[in-house]
Amino acid sequence: SLLLNGAHSQDLSTSIECPFPEGQDVASENECAKYSACAWTDGVCHMRSNAEAGYAVKGQSQSTERGFKMSLEKIDRAMTLYGTDVMALVFEVIYHEDYHVQIKLYDALNPRYEVPVPLTLPEAATENPLFVVTTSAENQPFQFKVERLGGTSGDQLFQSVGAITFEDQFLQITTTLSSTYFYGMGENTHSTLKHMFSPRDTFPIFARDHLVAEGHLNEYGHHPYYIVVNNNTGDVHSVLLFSSNGVEYSTFLLEDGTPALTLRTIGGIVDLHIFLGPTLEDVNQQYSKMVGFPAFPPYWTLGFHIARWGYANTTHVREVRERTKAMGIPQDGQTLDIDYMYRNRDFTYDPVDWADLPDLLQELHNDDLKVTLILDPALVVDWDNYPPGQRGKDADVYLKWLSSAYIPEDQDPSWNDYMVGRVWPDLPVVFPDFLNPVTQRWWADELILFRQNVSYDAIWIDMNEPSNFGTNLNEFQHDLMCPNNTWDTPPYPTKMVRVGPSLSRRISAQTVCMSGNQTDGNEIYLHYDVHSLYGWSETVATYKGLQEVLSGKRPVILSRSTFVGSGQYTAHWLGDNSALWNHLKFSVIGMLEFNFFGIPMVGSDICGFNLTPGLEMCARWMELGAFYPFSRNHNMRGMPDQDPGMWPEVAAISRDILLLRYQYLPYLYTLFYESHTSGSSVVRPLFSEHPKDSIALEVDDQFLWGKGIMVAPVLAKGVTERDVYFPEGKWYDLNTGVEVAEGPLTLTVPAPLEIIPVYAAGGVVLPYQEPAITTVQSRNNPFGLTVALNSSLQAEGRLFWDDGESVYVEEDTYLANITFANNILRLEVQRSTLPVTGLTLETLRFFGYPSSPAEVEVNGSILDPGQWSYDDATNVLTAFISVLLSENLTVMLL
Ligand code: NOJ
Repeated sequence: SLLLNGAHSQDLSTSIECPFPEGQDVASENECAKYSACAWTDGVCHMRSNAEAGYAVKGQSQSTERGFKMSLEKIDRAMTLYGTDVMALVFEVIYHEDYHVQIKLYDALNPRYEVPVPLTLPEAATENPLFVVTTSAENQPFQFKVERLGGTSGDQLFQSVGAITFEDQFLQITTTLSSTYFYGMGENTHSTLKHMFSPRDTFPIFARDHLVAEGHLNEYGHHPYYIVVNNNTGDVHSVLLFSSNGVEYSTFLLEDGTPALTLRTIGGIVDLHIFLGPTLEDVNQQYSKMVGFPAFPPYWTLGFHIARWGYANTTHVREVRERTKAMGIPQDGQTLDIDYMYRNRDFTYDPVDWADLPDLLQELHNDDLKVTLILDPALVVDWDNYPPGQRGKDADVYLKWLSSAYIPEDQDPSWNDYMVGRVWPDLPVVFPDFLNPVTQRWWADELILFRQNVSYDAIWIDMNEPSNFGTNLNEFQHDLMCPNNTWDTPPYPTKMVRVGPSLSRRISAQTVCMSGNQTDGNEIYLHYDVHSLYGWSETVATYKGLQEVLSGKRPVILSRSTFVGSGQYTAHWLGDNSALWNHLKFSVIGMLEFNFFGIPMVGSDICGFNLTPGLEMCARWMELGAFYPFSRNHNMRGMPDQDPGMWPEVAAISRDILLLRYQYLPYLYTLFYESHTSGSSVVRPLFSEHPKDSIALEVDDQFLWGKGIMVAPVLAKGVTERDVYFPEGKWYDLNTGVEVAEGPLTLTVPAPLEIIPVYAAGGVVLPYQEPAITTVQSRNNPFGLTVALNSSLQAEGRLFWDDGESVYVEEDTYLANITFANNILRLEVQRSTLPVTGLTLETLRFFGYPSSPAEVEVNGSILDPGQWSYDDATNVLTAFISVLLSENLTVMLL
């Protein structure tokens, strides 16, 4: 470790505001005075200097197998904020990969909670780190800095400013940032992709069932992970605060104008993982490599899904299916919400309105559709009349109170020491502890048993924050009342307690009490610590169960709550949005953020969950939703049906745009293959390829599929044109092949109601297939290639293919590299050709080919002139060939 020099000794502590009690916006001087680590200057309650409120370096640093560590000691034990400070800390630096360093701060004497989610770390430390970590010298107030090695302008990846606070339930660290191009963190509704710094902006992170809304609250998932782009160098890095405790992040400017970020967590340790990129895709891959490569979605899941909450019965579902089919709208998935259950009980179906559920599933299967069923974690307490619940009780799988002292006095003794709440069922509920292997076994067995009668294809796990109604409100019998102890009333509850009147202003609002106890079979955990892992653990349990149910096929799960690493098991939708125009924009931002989080299979409820969309909004949303990786129209109980077949005009628009989606599914599927095998993202922001482009860095109403397709949706009412930003390079209209722009530039393009502007990027080969109304059919159709040329008349791409559903085994899959250069198109098969047996490649479309060739030669034979054509007006060359995909191909334009 090198030592920090004078340049770093400047203390900017007065720029760092003290976190206000109960998440208030302003602290008064009197309030400020209650916190000895804070001081009041010019109307601001700020942190005291590092020399007063921080830690000092004790002794020399010691090298370890993977890096080094050093001891720290609190300088003044009287300086506190929200509890007793840990006096002796260890600062440890672990060099995992040349691009990946871990920084830990932990209690030197007493082990504390650390997140039990497994990470994939290399066997041995890197010997060639591309970063350098420096710290303060012995006896000096402690600070540290992580810099990129060789960075031209000294790219600072992390640089602590002011005092680090390490208390039992309040940990805080502030870092400067190398730019304000700061993205990620969630799950929150962000109204811009790039976050704001002035005025200060603060968001909490903690899993909670909270609807999509602007207002800086914590929503369903927990991802304390951010990305910074140094727009001067173009270098990108990312940082994970690996914490499952309540987190809060605050962006602001220091007095000298430097952008800064404060990270707080209310338990555990400070555990940072820094990834050096240097490109956005490098960062995505590096992060995914550690947290787990994203699941490979079966092909059918990339089709269009229809859902709603509030199907009256099986007839209602049949009606929806009929009108969708009658209008020729592609559909692959039908999703059933809790309506199908008997009294909202998992693993049951209603014997009256849904008596013929197995027949309905059979009919849908006959129509080549797949069916997703919802399950909720909360199980009704009605032991004698509900065998799945009784079996869970026999195995003792439910979440328990930390102490029997907390069990409500009137709790039925047969409910044991379980924490009992209230969700959809008409009787109280209990919550399985999915961390426990015993619970996982029981859950898998229930999934297997249920499948014997109901042949579902995929499972939707909802309400798994976990959601609980009426917590602390005491309005209904069985409202869960949380005790007042340090877990349920923590000294610093973060801004998450700022909720509206329908929820309690406690961290347990709309969920279970923190004073719960869980186990993974070895250790006992406080619910306070593992709360945000609830959805993750249910996902793991469901994944394991489905592996048994679907032997050999890839499990399909859609989870509302997610944590770091959930992407290797599940898809995600962005929760309960509303049919409001700004929610279309939020969905673009959320989709991009979940691609950062390693959960690329994501989308939001098309046409809005809550409220009622008009025809125009639903049409626009269907257009945008056709480019969500996970494309599902879903709706709330009580709202009128809004599936695309409801309005003839929306139906026609939806059919056309979904056919375009289905046409390019081979490209989307190839992106998912790359995501699954290398961790790359599927949907990308414009700055992905243009990190120095200050316009691209801010665009959040356009997005890319991989590198090759750019979508510019219309997100406002009554609009028939929009401004589209085209980054550097050539851009073609995806449908016509006409060159629209050579960026960088902004153009106003027409976008009448039936049009969503979609472009192909020069330089990319996009494999496609003639579309059909299901993927079962489209997967047999002939393929084509859209070859969009860059200014050097080159392009490249890949095509991945397999049976669309088996667990990925490299040798059993087909992969072709496709290149165009020097007027020669080559398709080179990389491995097994079995998956493409009988499949043909029939159409080649070259966009941006400057003038007509004299002849086209395919595998050495001159193509009949009737089989190709060149359009001078559009510069599009189209050739009809008929070759097998299993064979290498050479096409020369002579
Ligand atoms: C909440 C989910 O977010 C929503 O999508 C679902 O329809 C309802 N629960 C009912 O299950």
